Amino acid sequence: MTEHSLRLGVNIDHVATVRNARGGAYPDPLRAALAAQTAGADGITAHLREDRRHISDTDIDRLMESLTVPLNFEMAATDEMQAIALRHKPHAVCIVPEKREERTTEGGLEVAREENRLAHFIAPLREAGCRVSIFIAADKRQIDAAHRIGAEVIELHTGAYCDAFADGRIEEHQKEFESLREMSAYAHSLGLEVHAGHGLTYDTVAPIAAFPEVKELNIGHFLIGESIFLGLQPAIAEMRRLMDQARNG
Ligand code: PXP
Repeated sequence: MTEHSLRLGVNIDHVATVRNARGGAYPDPLRAALAAQTAGADGITAHLREDRRHISDTDIDRLMESLTVPLNFEMAATDEMQAIALRHKPHAVCIVPEKREERTTEGGLEVAREENRLAHFIAPLREAGCRVSIFIAADKRQIDAAHRIGAEVIELHTGAYCDAFADGRIEEHQKEFESLREMSAYAHSLGLEVHAGHGLTYDTVAPIAAFPEVKELNIGHFLIGESIFLGLQPAIAEMRRLMDQARNG
């Protein structure tokens, strides 16, 4: 497989959301993950939430057995999730904040105020060989804290940038863009690997993909929605094309 300078991680959570709406076996997130792999995804992302509203424990077992690309396992910083991650030892673990009542992961993780706890939390994951990524806002305080606790990767939350674009709040969109740009460069200067994601679409991906410091984008909801119209593989191929175009000029 081609080694891309900007990796695309396809998040398959919402294939499971549709499956769970009827409680049966289809559509199967593993089948979607294998199709995404064939379409050029560099990795698969899945978030096992505390309430198991989309991905299930069995989905994670099956993904770990069958994928040939790396699994990025998203999870909250809880003992239960840590035990699951240590059992599977996925390539990457992305620590995200989680609130039961939220519809999606609304903000970045508060690392600065929980530095001690998080440093202890991620240590065994790193010892087990997982690449630990921390999902945070484009905020210098959080980046510094993520660096101090020993994370190798940060993922910058692009939700506010995407929401402002969707609502036509152009000044705010521009402001969010500038923060993402500055903070990607700042995190990179500390030696952190920089990823980004949340809410990205064909309309919002290019400016972020053009940041030279960003190594990986994780994209889910839009791609799964778009696959209703285009099919999953063409939907992913179009995202890949836009990313490559933005990156290579
Ligand atoms: N990155 C992280 C850390 C996330 O939590 C999510 C959503 O689960 C995504 C990326 C993907 O966001 P979206 O589904 O909006 O593309």
